[in-house]
Order: sequence, then structure tokens, then C-alpha cells
Amino acid sequence: MAVNGEVQGKSGLIIGASRGLGRGLSLELLQRGWTITATVRSVRGAGCEAYEAHHGQLTMDTLDINLPSMIDAFMCRIEGKLFDVVFIVAGVGDPEGKTVETVSSEDVVHLIMTNAISPIRLAHRLLPYIRPETGILAFMSSFLGSVEANTTGVSSLYSASKAALNSLTRSFVATMPRQDITVLNIHPGWVRTSIGGATADIDVETSVAGIADILEAKAGMGGQHFLDYKGNAIPW
Ligand SMILES: NC(=O)c1ccc[n+]([C@@H]2O[C@H](COP(=O)([O-])OP(=O)(O)OC[C@H]3O[C@@H](n4cnc5c(N)ncnc54)[C@H](OP(=O)(O)O)[C@@H]3O)[C@@H](O)[C@H]2O)c1
Repeated sequence: MAVNGEVQGKSGLIIGASRGLGRGLSLELLQRGWTITATVRSVRGAGCEAYEAHHGQLTMDTLDINLPSMIDAFMCRIEGKLFDVVFIVAGVGDPEGKTVETVSSEDVVHLIMTNAISPIRLAHRLLPYIRPETGILAFMSSFLGSVEANTTGVSSLYSASKAALNSLTRSFVATMPRQDITVLNIHPGWVRTSIGGATADIDVETSVAGIADILEAKAGMGGQHFLDYKGNAIPW
């Protein structure tokens, strides 16, 4: 985009940016010249200091995706903004060591709300704030959310939550009131974060560099795509 002869960077809204992939992706896009609005649940949380070098391009805000009153207040604060990318990264891992047989109902509700229901509710509210034609709405999914690729049964509850997210995003796209934008379900790789664990395959920097490349390459592509961080298609 050119304004007064100068090339302007893109703008992104990253939901769930206190740590891990959300923080890493925000920092990667900031380094690429993007203007970023990054949300955290609490500004007292660790991680905000990583953003200090980028204060000119950055707006920090607070949002818990499970709290409707926080969403209402957040929507007021972003009134009038338009983003090239809205990326809902926030999510939670498997309830520690639990299976369908042993997990509590409360933990199931929290898992499904956070990983599947709240992202869709939020996407409905954020749709008008995505740039026409070239805008991207992205959800942080997982390879483990692929029903077709599920041959191991690993992390069954978490897998089910991401499969639910994938299914709900497809219903959302099929019925959303605008069809001009691109919708991406992204598998970030198996990444060393608190969800991925210390023995995961790749570091945050590798994953988010690939994701940022995809966000820059897919603008204007249209449709919905389930891709890994290298841009490879994943079966639903
Ligand atoms: N790491 C992997 O290998 C991997 C693989 C596939 C998919 N993913 C997905 O990638 C996303 C990011 O995970 P991560 O690996 O970076 O783990 P992480 O370091 O644990 O980060 C999780 C992020 O989600 C935020 N969050 C959790 N609940 C939230 C809520 N109710 N409202 C707003 N924010 C909330 C956390 O905020 P707080 O700091 O406030 O808790 C944190 O910023 C998740 O959706 C995860 O399922 C990760």
C-alpha cells in the first residue's frame, strides 16, 4: 500500500500474544515492518517487556477470549480500525494426563470453550475489521485437529478440541456474510512452547517465520485453507 509515495507496512491483530507462538508471531511481524495490535489476558503477565523495542508500531490491549464483557470492551477500543490480518492464536493444551474416561466436565468445558467456541464467537465480532479483498482471518489450529490424519490417538482431548475448531471454522466460512477475505487454519508445527513442551521439533522463531511468510503470500487468495507453517496443505 502506498500513501504519499511511501510504502506503508501492513497491520495485524494478534489475539493471545503474551507468550509462545502469539508473542513470537507478533515480534516477527513487527520486525517485518507491520503495525500490530497484540492482546494479552493481563498486562501484568510476563512477556510484555519483549515488545519494548517496538512501541511505535505496537498497541497492546487486554482480552480474555472466554469473557464476553472483555470482548465487548475490546470491540469499542478497536472501533474504526482495519486489519490486514486478524489471527486468533490463543489456546490451551490437553488437561494434564487426562483421557475421556478421567477428565472432569469443568476441564472439558474450558478446553472446548477456549480452543473451539470462543475463537468462532470472536471471529464473528472481528469480521468487519478485516480489510476487504486482501484481508486474512487466521485461526491457530493443529495437525492434531485433522480427523483424517488421526491414526495415533495422541492427545485425544486436545485433538478433539482442534477438530471442533476446524469444523466450526468451516461452518463459519460457509455462512459468513462476506466471502471476499481469505481464511486460514494454521498448523504451526510441533513447537517448543508450554503447550508443545521442551522436546518439540522446532523453536518458535522457525515456526513464526514460516507463518509470517504464508500471511504475506496468501493475501487476496480467497477461500479457506488448512496449512502447516511451511505452506503445505493438511487433510481436514
Ligand atoms: N506449540 C505447539 O506445538 C502447537 C502445535 C499446534 C497448535 N498450537 C496452538 O498454538 C496456539 C498457541 O500456543 P503456544 O504453543 O504458543 O502455547 P502457550 O505458550 O501456552 O501460549 C498460549 C497462549 O494462549 C493464551 N490464552 C490461553 N487462554 C486464553 C484466553 N482464554 N484468552 C486469551 N488468551 C488465552 C495464553 O495467554 P496467558 O499467558 O494469559 O495464559 C498464551 O498467550 C494454541 O492455540 C495452540 O493450541 C501449538
